Amino acid sequence: MTQDSSKKPMDAIMALCKRRGFIYQASEIYGGINGFWDYGPMGAQLKKNLRDAWWQDMILRPCWGRNGPNGKPVRNVGLETCIIQHPKVWEASGHLAGFADPMRKCAGCGHFVRADQLWDTIVTASEWFASVIQEFDPAPEGTQTPRLNAERLMKWARTKGKRLAPNLALVRNPEVTLSWLVTRVNGQPESPPEIIEIVRHLATEQLNVTGLQDPCPRCGAVLGEPAPFKLMFETFAGLTQTEDNKVYLRPETAQGVFVQFKNVADTTRIKMPFGIGNTGRSFRNEITPRNFTFRSREFEQAELEFFCHPDESLDWYKFWRDFRMEWWKEIGLAGENLILREHEKDELSHYSQGTSDVEYRFPFTSPGFGELEGIAHRGNYDLTQHQKVSGAKLDFFDTDRGEILPNGGKKGERYLPHCIEPAAGLDRGALALICEGYTRDDSRASPEFLKLHPRIAPVKAAVFPLVAKDGMPEVAEKLHAELSDKFWKLGGVEMDEKQSIGKRYARMDEIGTPFCITIDGDTMAVQTVTVRDRDTATQQKVSLDKVGAFLSEKLGV
Ligand code: GAP
Repeated sequence: MTQDSSKKPMDAIMALCKRRGFIYQASEIYGGINGFWDYGPMGAQLKKNLRDAWWQDMILRPCWGRNGPNGKPVRNVGLETCIIQHPKVWEASGHLAGFADPMRKCAGCGHFVRADQLWDTIVTASEWFASVIQEFDPAPEGTQTPRLNAERLMKWARTKGKRLAPNLALVRNPEVTLSWLVTRVNGQPESPPEIIEIVRHLATEQLNVTGLQDPCPRCGAVLGEPAPFKLMFETFAGLTQTEDNKVYLRPETAQGVFVQFKNVADTTRIKMPFGIGNTGRSFRNEITPRNFTFRSREFEQAELEFFCHPDESLDWYKFWRDFRMEWWKEIGLAGENLILREHEKDELSHYSQGTSDVEYRFPFTSPGFGELEGIAHRGNYDLTQHQKVSGAKLDFFDTDRGEILPNGGKKGERYLPHCIEPAAGLDRGALALICEGYTRDDSRASPEFLKLHPRIAPVKAAVFPLVAKDGMPEVAEKLHAELSDKFWKLGGVEMDEKQSIGKRYARMDEIGTPFCITIDGDTMAVQTVTVRDRDTATQQKVSLDKVGAFLSEKLGV
């Protein structure tokens, strides 16, 4: 059964990620840098396992060997393209002109806020709002509504509030703002206010005091009008730092594929329909990087551009949409925490005939969901644009189409293929797998553990000598060497002989190791080991010479 991710404490998950070497703040000893994260030894391996799983299931054996809607095996090839491309690539793709978020600058503190995420930011990341909410008391027994202590809130406005958000109406004009809040919160227990209603009220008061409705999430002052803020990082290639030498860090891996489409088509024997996969770092100067690695400024994508005849494109769109959803389930995301959301018609780009998002209910988005992957029908927009701006012919001559000739062959058809794009984020994927796997069971000696799919777990098994004597360490070392030889390609097997057995189990549980194998008295006497299952904490005896085979079967490798 899946656990509702909204019940999972994000603080505890982040603490575990740091404690066990999954994710560290980048440049931490210098105070960190907003929107950048490094992966520790466990995180680097977990992310590699995720990237490998994508590459194996999308490029090496696409869709687990399944046929596409044309009744034939799916054909994909890999590609690795540069982070820095010719600046015209971004002119053609539309990123130079259009890849910008609407920003509002606060007249009080100079803070920038994304105009389309203002309310979200106030509720989830505003220090003053969190501080106001702390002034609420829990609902008295038998009622649902929390209570508001008017006196305490007045005190808050005069002290903490003044420091946190001096321009907020609630701080500048507390009596008026307060009277509504207290009446609404304490007076109608049968219809308790939603958080959004409280925020709206504060904002309306803000309108009366400042003339503008939306308060700055940081200080509560007036926000300026929205203006576009470019999301691409700029740098220079060459000796002089002039406009002529300006280049951009790619905001997506996809464009590398479109500009190499012709080379791949001409230099391989691949036939239409086919996909080209590209994984790697992308960069976006996000205005409000937040929610751990969810919205970062440097992140990794795994994108497939699947090219096909326009007449077949809707079938392929549906095929990829369904397969990608199935894939995320297969590697460990499940149940009600994962949804496939088809975009409404008015959400679609003008060239798109369909877009769906695979979304996961992260603890910080709950009860809502956050995007893990977008599957978009891009039509022939990108190839058309690159053809126009570069002048290169990017159409494809398909020898499997056209009327049948007297010699039995086909006449062929020249066309600009349509493209279906499943575009996944590996950092969001890794974060979703960690959140989904995070489990707390206080009845266990080691209450926190990560239920990771064996394919994703950074360590597949650990070998422990029960005590560091009586020949046990030697047997453990031999078994460890044997299992490492067998499983090293999958992320490895660890050996640990320090501390109590309970502490060793706890460490392995927290990094998501599916099995721990203990060399104990029985091993020395009757050649059996004790194998402990991470998820159930149950133990079973396995013959020493059968441990490799046991793990192969359990890990599915
Ligand atoms: N080529 C299409 C494209 O890039 P996107 O929806 O902007 O589409 C695809 O990005 C995926 O990349 C997203 O679903 C998400 O998983 C990941 N992604 C995008 N921006 C991100 C960010 N700032 N931080 C982490 N991951 C991000």
